[in-house]
Amino acid sequence: MRGTPLARSLSLVVALAALLALAGCVQLGWDDRSLYVQLGEKPGIDQLVDRFIRELARDERIRGHFQGIDIRRLREQLAFYLCERSGGPCRYEGAPLREVHRHLGVSEADFNALVEDLIDAMEGLDVPTPTQNELLALLAPEQVEIVEPRRAWWR
Ligand code: HEM
Repeated sequence: MRGTPLARSLSLVVALAALLALAGCVQLGWDDRSLYVQLGEKPGIDQLVDRFIRELARDERIRGHFQGIDIRRLREQLAFYLCERSGGPCRYEGAPLREVHRHLGVSEADFNALVEDLIDAMEGLDVPTPTQNELLALLAPEQVEIVEPRRAWWR
């Protein structure tokens, strides 16, 4: 190696830092591809939605909400929604979520149950945890659009 001892040790430190950062990324499962790509693009999202709807149908806590609705439409719209939100090329052209869920009486517990079902679906498809977390973080703020505000007991 050429250069002064100081330059040599500096480049050693830089190389070591780069190596540690790389190891950190690998360990944390860093993936800088778009969420859409991580989810397997449209085919991956369709598969996830299928599995998710199967989980919902099995879930005694919330399956009642979905009785009698057009499941084919839900599957299609949900896939468009997730595709668009994850950075894919699709367009969700349904009504805003607040409108869709208005008067459905969705509680916070219902919302949490649905999130658990989504996690089960992702686990079942071996979606890596960082990808799962990215999708959950994207959906979490929708809670205020979907959950019906609780009335105070005195009203
Ligand atoms: C992050 C959470 C949620 C997302 C992203 C979401 C998204 C959607 C989308 C995209 C649709 C289709 C809209 C359309 O047909 O145009 C839909 C419909 C529906 N959602 Fe959700 N939803 C969520 C949570 C929930 C929860 C917690 C419940 C109840 C437990 C629920 C119950 C329903 C029902 C019953 C429909 C069908 C409405 C109908 O066709 O009349 N959703 N949702």
